[in-house]
Amino acid sequence: MQASLDEIISRYKAGSRESLLPLLQDIQIEFGYLNEEAILRVGQHIKLPSSKVYGIATFYDQFRFVQKGKFHFKVCRGTSCHMHGSLSILREVERVLNLKEGQTSRDGRFSLEAVSCMGACGSAPVMNVNGEFKTAIAIQDIAQIINFYRSTI
Ligand code: FES
Repeated sequence: MQASLDEIISRYKAGSRESLLPLLQDIQIEFGYLNEEAILRVGQHIKLPSSKVYGIATFYDQFRFVQKGKFHFKVCRGTSCHMHGSLSILREVERVLNLKEGQTSRDGRFSLEAVSCMGACGSAPVMNVNGEFKTAIAIQDIAQIINFYRSTI
C-alpha cells in the first residue's frame, strides 16, 4: 500500500484539514478500505491526531476499515426491504457465512455489509453480491446462493 498511499497523499496540501474527506475517499477508491497505516499517514499529513481522523471517518457510512472479501455481500436494510423481512435475511446470511455484518472471513473469500436502500425497493428484499442483484429473496434461498459462490472459488 505504501507507494500508492504516498502518491495519493501527495496530491493534497500538507496541513489542509479540508482535504480530509476527499483524501480518505481517494484512498478508499484505490484500496477499497482504510487501514491503520492510511489513517496514521493522513493524520500526519493534515496535522490532525489519528484518533480524530478515525473518529471522523467512522461517522460516515461510506468508509470501510476492513478489506472486502473476494465475494462481497450487501444486504439491504432500507425501509422497504425491512418491511419484507431483511433483518431475517441478514441473520441467515450471517449464519451461513459464519460472519457478522462488517466482517471479512479469515480466508478473505467473503465479506458482509448491511447497507441502506439500493434503489430496488419494488423487488424487496434485496441483496447484492459483487454488483449482482438478488431480488425478492427468501430465507430458504440464502444457503443455495452462498453455496453457488463457494463452489466458484
Ligand atoms: S429499501 Fe431495499 S432496495 Fe430500497
